[in-house]
Amino acid sequence: MPVLTMPIHRGNNRSCSCISSTGRRAQLFHFALGLLVGILGSNFFQGASLFPVTDMDAYRQSVLLGKDGREQETTMTTSQQSKITISNTGGAVVDSSSPLLQRQQQQRNFLEIARQSGTDKVKGTLFLPSCLENPQTCRKPKAKNPKCRVGAQHFYDTVYQKWLGPYSTDTVEPFQFLEIGYFNGKGFDAYADFMPRAELHSMEISCLPPGKQSEGKWPWGNFAARNVHYQALRDARRLHCGDAADHAFLRGVWTTHMKRRGAPPLRVVVDDGSHLAQHMATTLFFWFPRIEPGGILVIEDIEPLPEAASFRTGVVPQLLLDLHYCGNDEHFAETVCFPTIQPLLHAVHCEMHICVLERNQEPAVDTLSEQDSMPPPHALDAMKCLQRKL
Ligand SMILES: C[S@@+](CC[C@H](N)C(=O)[O-])C[C@H]1O[C@@H](n2cnc3c(N)ncnc32)[C@H](O)[C@@H]1O
Repeated sequence: MPVLTMPIHRGNNRSCSCISSTGRRAQLFHFALGLLVGILGSNFFQGASLFPVTDMDAYRQSVLLGKDGREQETTMTTSQQSKITISNTGGAVVDSSSPLLQRQQQQRNFLEIARQSGTDKVKGTLFLPSCLENPQTCRKPKAKNPKCRVGAQHFYDTVYQKWLGPYSTDTVEPFQFLEIGYFNGKGFDAYADFMPRAELHSMEISCLPPGKQSEGKWPWGNFAARNVHYQALRDARRLHCGDAADHAFLRGVWTTHMKRRGAPPLRVVVDDGSHLAQHMATTLFFWFPRIEPGGILVIEDIEPLPEAASFRTGVVPQLLLDLHYCGNDEHFAETVCFPTIQPLLHAVHCEMHICVLERNQEPAVDTLSEQDSMPPPHALDAMKCLQRKL
């Protein structure tokens, strides 16, 4: 089976954020700022907890506009296209020979690659500067939280850089990556460029044969076929057409095309499919146990929409209950909400509308019955677990 690796899209030089000729004084200023940031002990790609920025929107805007000097320092040469050169630590804190920094320097830049592919995963970030020109209209109508934006509202670059960055290097061990919801493949193209060592798979319902849904077909047109790589992906058995909420389809793809002899291990699954809460839960219960130790499951678009709401109000709270479970009922009677997930769960990391579930070091489980591979009846109802009425 050929390994499909998409070539990195070469951006034109105008999109390269190189230091401009107008920037001598600004360069000095940015150098001093970089030094200060370094002294304050921050490293953006290490997590922003020490970074002296309190307003994330202002921060993102400054990154995009290059006001904090990072854009100038995130220079991409032709030979290093899409790889990050981090020098905003100013060298004051992190030794440039440190293995950690060297590994980070090998990482590609998700925001830049996603911008080139046109995926909506970073549209919020890219749109924000112009959106904020009028803060009143930039906020979603009636939204009390000013962070709820109009239009493209995804700001997933920070999550993806942090969690997929280590998978984006040229030296990472080959691994499998599964996306649920291919649509027209712009997200998939971004992943392919970002993680050239990944064996990428995707699932999409709209490339089922045209026809009535009641007959297991799809009546509304093939979105996936709009992508130039469509046929190649189909031929290589990387794009799987079917319903990602259907256990038989999931098992078929997994056993036939993914868990092949000699196949690289499954490390990452991303759910960007229907965003129906029940389907998101299906992804969790089928795929999380099958992800290798230390891998991740990313669930996108956990938004306060009616269709997705009960994932946020039902599934996420139960995951958090399980995360802190000890089972010493001495002081407080405890129940494991999700017995097939809890023993494998290391952490839950969420930013607005997106969560990353991290696998612990327990081996992957592929012996679950069909029933245990699907959401239990109380999956979307946290109260049932809290009241121990499972
Ligand atoms: C939000 S779009 C995906 C966008 C894409 N991941 C990207 O980044 O460009 C959601 C896609 O999921 C597909 N989808 C919806 N329900 C599905 C299901 N049950 N199984 C598989 N795909 C599904 C839709 O047809 C649609 O193409």
